[in-house]
Amino acid sequence: MAKGSLTSQIKNSPYLLLTNIGQLATLRGEAGPRRRAALSDIGLIQDAAVLCAGGRIAAVGKQRELLRDPWLRKKLRKNQRKIQEIDCAGRVVLPGLIDSHTHPAFMGPRLIDFEKRTAGATYEEIAAAGGGIRSSVAAVRKASRPQLAEHVLHGLQAMLEQGTTTVEAKSGYGLTAKDEIKSLQAIHDAAARWPGTVVPTLLAAHVPPVEFAGKEDEYIEMVCQRIIPEAAKKRLAGFVDVFCERGAFTLEQSERVLAAAQRHGLGTRAHVCQFTPSKLDRLLACRPASLDHMDCVGEDDVALLAERQTVATLLPGANYFLGHREFLQARRLIDSGVAVALATDYNPGTSPTPSMPFVISLACTHMQMSVAEAIAASTMNAACALKLAARKGSIEPGKDADLVVFDFKDYREIGYWVAWNRCAQVIVGGEEVLAAN
Ligand code: NIG
Ligand code: FE
Repeated sequence: MAKGSLTSQIKNSPYLLLTNIGQLATLRGEAGPRRRAALSDIGLIQDAAVLCAGGRIAAVGKQRELLRDPWLRKKLRKNQRKIQEIDCAGRVVLPGLIDSHTHPAFMGPRLIDFEKRTAGATYEEIAAAGGGIRSSVAAVRKASRPQLAEHVLHGLQAMLEQGTTTVEAKSGYGLTAKDEIKSLQAIHDAAARWPGTVVPTLLAAHVPPVEFAGKEDEYIEMVCQRIIPEAAKKRLAGFVDVFCERGAFTLEQSERVLAAAQRHGLGTRAHVCQFTPSKLDRLLACRPASLDHMDCVGEDDVALLAERQTVATLLPGANYFLGHREFLQARRLIDSGVAVALATDYNPGTSPTPSMPFVISLACTHMQMSVAEAIAASTMNAACALKLAARKGSIEPGKDADLVVFDFKDYREIGYWVAWNRCAQVIVGGEEVLAAN
């Protein structure tokens, strides 16, 4: 049994005791990104119990041992009425899933683009003809902050219902100073009404807006000189992201955006190597917390990434929705020592899914990841991608008590069932926020 400073955590705080956990994936160990073989070590405990107190994990272990602890028994007896017990009835418990890459600040689906795609056009062709990301911009500019916040919250709720308790949420459909700031404020408003943790990211450099056609450098100048400083000053974003891709921004422009973020004390991350390869060394110089997509990353850069703390976030929902025959070669990255995370990329153009279990299923069925690897990539490594590993990503004493109960008996079922939501209960900060039906 592992115990933290139990006495100080338990004193005067509400308790939550999860019992009869058939399999508990603790992800215990180093609070850093898991690589190679370590990625499949999810610290499984059979017949486990978890005690939460004051919003944190207080004790974790085999139920038999944990409940035999004399000090704990005395405490539990004395405080029986203050203790809420959840009988997990042999089910699986995982750390709250962490979706480290989402774009929830949009107003609706993109059905015209979707119909073009079903008729055979590619995402890049549609984008080049004025659709794609730009098709979502008019509605976001027209929306009020509360209207946009409602849509963000709707997405967050759907994520929670599938077991996600921490979400990175990007702006990126406003593309003016006013509308990017409004998007970040809407993310904050939605986050205030959602029990989980939201990490806001400024993605003003998503694509050049139409009014800056042929003047992309001027737009980048505005992002660096006006939008980033304002977002930093108002404390609206923890990170700045950029879409480094043909049809979006060049490597040089992307570097300018990330350097500006660093100057303003913000973290950095980038969308890169989604459709076309890019060299990573210059972006890595900006110390990104993650580089995301990475479908066509080159061999040299794989070796370079393996030496860094930067996490490669893989987004198979986009490959699935865009109908790409080729899924990313996750094995190549993992076996080379790159720290890999998984995320939904929830957005209206390439991945309209809020479901981390679906992403885990795709990783297993299309990317040759084991279920254990996919779980670690959606918890501990995703926490590292958000620089939150000290608080989240594992079920260990002292960490935030964010836990999910799944309605199955073997953890491998999370990668097995497809498009079937088996999330039964969600606990955030030691409180049950989604109850079993
Ligand atoms: O991650 N690649 C850039 N951004 C999103 C797509 C956003 C959209 O099409 O609305 C992505 O796939
Ligand atoms: Fe994305």
